[in-house]
Amino acid sequence: MRHMIFGESHGPAIGVVVEGVPAGLALDLEAVQRELDRRRPGQGPTTTARKESDLVEVLSGVFQGKTTGAPLAMVIRNTDQKSGDYENLRFTPRPSHGDYAGFIKSGGYLDWRGGGHFSGRLTAPLVAAGAVAKQVLAGQGVRVGAHISSIYGILDASWETEEELLAVAAKPFPVLDDGKGEEMRQAILQAKSERDSVGGAVECAVFGLPAGLGSPDFGCNVEGIFAQYLFAVPAVKGVDFGAGAAFSLMRGSEANDPFAVKDGKVVTATNHAGGINGGITNGMPVVFEATFRPTASIALPQQSVDLRTGEETEIEIHGRHAPCIVPRAVPAIEAAAALAACQVLGI
Ligand SMILES: Cc1cc2nc3c(=O)[nH]c(=O)nc-3n(C[C@H](O)[C@H](O)[C@H](O)COP(=O)(O)O)c2cc1C
Repeated sequence: MRHMIFGESHGPAIGVVVEGVPAGLALDLEAVQRELDRRRPGQGPTTTARKESDLVEVLSGVFQGKTTGAPLAMVIRNTDQKSGDYENLRFTPRPSHGDYAGFIKSGGYLDWRGGGHFSGRLTAPLVAAGAVAKQVLAGQGVRVGAHISSIYGILDASWETEEELLAVAAKPFPVLDDGKGEEMRQAILQAKSERDSVGGAVECAVFGLPAGLGSPDFGCNVEGIFAQYLFAVPAVKGVDFGAGAAFSLMRGSEANDPFAVKDGKVVTATNHAGGINGGITNGMPVVFEATFRPTASIALPQQSVDLRTGEETEIEIHGRHAPCIVPRAVPAIEAAAALAACQVLGI
């Protein structure tokens, strides 16, 4: 399966074409819509004020309720654009957003309205493609779950069972420990009141991938495959598998995952490796954490450069930006993981 996301934040629509979806899948469009609803903007004071219904429409690749194997095209209309907020930023790029890099790459021809093709809004079609991937994976006994693992240094609880992690998807603020979730929300609101933003991380697990998939080599390495999908989610600046960066603080005796036998199957007693050894799945859940930068568009005055004159200047951003990206990014990370898992399985 391969996908291509199209559209711009303030264009008429955004969408995705997914190629190679196996034919004969009874596509559950309501399940696709439920995933989109988890990501939808305009759901409380900690998110953006943009209101979008994000209703998905299938244009091709499904006939009489089943996938045909032809390219599956899904489209989501944009309805709540306010491009005026961006006119003052057209030639004065927002620090740390895609504006400057995109301006140079396109020779100035980019659609600058609302971040154009760099907007976090483009994660809606990613979520739609991921929802299709999840349905394909379900047929192979593979499931994906995720939660906010931290926001601005406030850590969520750890999960013990697959059911516990998968249940988080039903929550409006996707954490295991709602008390910690409230602390996170307060940290977001505090940053917002100071015209600032905060970052955080999403931990995700893929359950049911059999041992033996992948290879140590470039292009087929399971960590590499996942990383490629995950770094394509805007604002992801780090990806750690298993204990990740914490390995640097451990001894081998703490870090190693002892082998054991459970129900006649070889397992590991711990999963510090995140289900991957030698670039190959070992049969344990593939577990990783994606780190998100604080939202680049903050309301505080910032220094930029006027690209017409080459002079330094101060800008103020007036758009409807989320003071923290992380809560709405949880379904996007699950979607990226589901698409990566399909590639690992050779689907
Ligand atoms: C769900 C989601 C929503 C986002 N919303 C915003 C936003 O409101 N304002 C903003 O500046 N960036 C937002 N972003 C992040 C930018 O799209 C991203 O930082 C930008 O494209 C630059 O890419 P980079 O951070 O990966 O380098 C969002 C990202 C995601 C995943």
